[in-house]
Formats: sequence, structure tokens, C-alpha cells
Amino acid sequence: MNSDPLFINKVVGSILTAGLIAMVAGFIADLAYHPKMLDKPAYAIGGNAPAATTTAAAPAGPEPIVGLLASADAAAGEKSFKKCKACHGFKKGGPNKVGPNLWNVVGGSRAAVAGFKYSAAIKDMGGKWGFADLNAFLYKPKAFMKGTKMSFAGMKKAQDRANLVRFLRDKSDSPIALP
Ligand code: HEC
Repeated sequence: MNSDPLFINKVVGSILTAGLIAMVAGFIADLAYHPKMLDKPAYAIGGNAPAATTTAAAPAGPEPIVGLLASADAAAGEKSFKKCKACHGFKKGGPNKVGPNLWNVVGGSRAAVAGFKYSAAIKDMGGKWGFADLNAFLYKPKAFMKGTKMSFAGMKKAQDRANLVRFLRDKSDSPIALP
């Protein structure tokens, strides 16, 4: 046997050291060849809220149409109305279909057409159909009015909604002023 009293300590020590070096080397190699990107910055620099939080909290709402209405194209809006006409007419005194007649709807009270059986959702909402409401409703009816009977997926393009609202706004004896 070896006479060095520290022999065992030295052997164990060198095994541990070798293991440690191998681990560290492996870790460095791993970092070098497979760098892990952080999803978010580890800490925010400057401002109070990290940018990621602001993005997540932003509502996925429709683009406003107020700025587009004055120059919107009512004739193009009439063409887009073919998406609505299975369910809606727009002539004064015209009949209700699956949906109510839309004469005088822009600026008019919600759920105001006589003889149409509205959902509780629209009656409970009350108020008037202003430009901003119509924009949100036509963008995604069920998001603007949970429980509405109107089964329509929505119009995603702001210009299309502006053209359509401009067209409908003229379907009145006294159209409301454009914004
Ligand atoms: C599949 C049938 C259907 C289609 C398509 C449809 N609607 Fe409707 N719409 C309805 C129904 C039903 C209601 C009544 C909603 C309720 O009672 O909740 C309604 C209500 C409305 C109202 C509210 C009317 C009021 O008196 O307050 C507006 C405005 C409207 N629709 C516009 C449109 C426009 C513009 C389009 C085309 C882009 C369209 N709708 C497409 C069925 C439809």
C-alpha cells in the first residue's frame, strides 16, 4: 500500500477536479453551440413596465374609421352591402328579413325597428348607433355585443367598413353629420 496518508484525499480530489472541469467544459460548449435566447429581457431597463407587458395588454380592437368617412366611397359601400343583404334591406319602410331593416340606422337608436324581434343583448345595450359603435360592431359583431343574434363574421378592412357605413349613413331622411 502507499504510505502517503493523504493518498486517498488526493485521488478523490483529482477525480472531483476532473469531473468539475468536464462539467464546466460541457456547459461552455453547450452555451457556445446551443445558445438559449431569453423570451423576455431578464430585467427591464429604464421605464416602469417592460415592453412585453404593454404589447400583451393592448386590445386587438378594430382600426378606427372616423378619419376615413369623409372621403369614403359610398358606391363601393353599396357593393359591400351584398354581404348584408341576405339578412337586411335598407329602403325606407322596407320589410325586415332575418335582420331588421337598416333605414335610418346610422345615428338612430339601437333596436328601434318596429316589428323586429331583437335579442335581449341589443335591447339591454340600448343607446344609439354612432360611427365608432358601428365600426366595432361590423368589425366583429359578437365581440362588440355578446349574445347578438346577428350571425356575421365581420369585416376586417377599415376602408370596407368606412365605405359601408358611409353608404348606410345616407339611407335616412336627415343623415347625421360626418365626423
Ligand atoms: C346572417 C344574417 C345577417 C347578416 C349577414 C348581417 N346581419 Fe346585421 N343583423 C342581423 C340580425 C339577426 C340582427 C339583430 C341583432 C340582435 O337582435 O341581436 C342584426 C342587426 C344589425 C344592426 C343593428 C340594427 C338595429 O336596429 O339596431 C346593424 C346596424 C346591422 N345588423 C348591420 C349589418 C351590416 C352592415 C351587415 C353587412 C356587413 C350585416 N348587418 C349582416 C342579421 C344579419
